[in-house]
Order: sequence, then C-alpha cells, then structure tokens
Amino acid sequence: MMIKVLIDEETLKKRVKELAQEIEEYYKDKTDTIHAVCILKGSIHFFSDLVLNMRNLNVKYSFIHVSSYQGTSSTGRIRVKSWIDESIHDEYVLLVEDIVDTGLTLQHIVRYLKKYNPRDFKIVTLIEKTVHDHGVPLDFVGFRVGDKFLVGYGLDVDEKFRNLPYIGYVE
Ligand code: IMP
Repeated sequence: MMIKVLIDEETLKKRVKELAQEIEEYYKDKTDTIHAVCILKGSIHFFSDLVLNMRNLNVKYSFIHVSSYQGTSSTGRIRVKSWIDESIHDEYVLLVEDIVDTGLTLQHIVRYLKKYNPRDFKIVTLIEKTVHDHGVPLDFVGFRVGDKFLVGYGLDVDEKFRNLPYIGYVE
C-alpha cells in the first residue's frame, strides 16, 4: 500500500496549536475547567497534542472507544467498546474527534452524551470530510478534506499506519 503525505508534521502541529488557542478563547470568560472527551482510538494523538497546548484551562479527561470501520469503508454499525466512567452532568464538555465522514459515529455518541445534561457541549474535529452532508454541527475544525481515505496521526486502515507522524492518504 502506497501512502502519500497530505498534511505534513509541521503543518499539523501548527494547526493543532491554533485550534487549542481558538478553543481557549471560546471558554475564556465562561469557565476555567473543561471536560474533554477523547474518541478512541483515532483521536489519541490529536487529543493529546490539543490539550497539551491548552495552557490556561484545567482539563479533565474521559475516553470513549467505538468502532465502525472495516478496511476503508464504514459498516454503518457503531460498536461501543467502552464508555465514559465519570459524569459530565453540568460540565463544559469538549468532544474530541479525529475525522467526521458520514457523521454516523458522532451522531450516535452526541445523542447519548447529551442525556447527561452537560452545561455546555462543543465538538472539535481534526478533519472534516466534505463528501457527505453529515449534519453534525462542528464547532471547531482543523482541516477540511475531500474524498480520500486518510491514515496516520492516529488514523488507520485495519489498525495499520496509526503511528505515522503526519496525515497521508492511500493511493
Ligand atoms: P463516520 O461515522 O463515517 O463519520 O466515520 C467516523 C469514524 O470513521 C472516524 O472516527 C474514524 O475512526 C473512521 N474514519 C472515517 N474516515 C476515515 C479515514 O479516511 N481514515 C481512517 N479512519 C476514518
């Protein structure tokens, strides 16, 4: 499988830092503590780099593990492998996703998280694919990308290529 670089390491780091600043700006006059929810496995590196760039906020961590993809296509069925273990009731929640394609994964997660009645609910995604009209209101977006299957910086094809330090696409 040939991988071509789409977003190099430097561009990625720079944008993640900017996103962290945009997000901190939003919370500035609202709260000093947020509850960031990482959607595993793909968001691991984005989540980590993002929160490390937030110097003015206390950040609580929670993790959700879901899967829906096999190879390069969505199965449409979302499997929740593990769920948040602390309440997000009345908190400032920031949901951190790697990539939004059909939006099915996010819709599913958002529907259930909102049942906890968080005080405020925002979504950040590193990448939004512009192929589908996914209908999920994204508050912060790192990059918009067309119809390509991406790997690296957490993203995989059948569990491969997650540890590439850049984002590439499969030719
Ligand atoms: P959606 O439910 O179609 O929006 O897909 C969201 C999930 O599918 C993401 O959280 C990823 O884990 C995975 N996914 C979607 N597109 C890609 C891709 O291009 N590369 C790797 N994983 C992807």
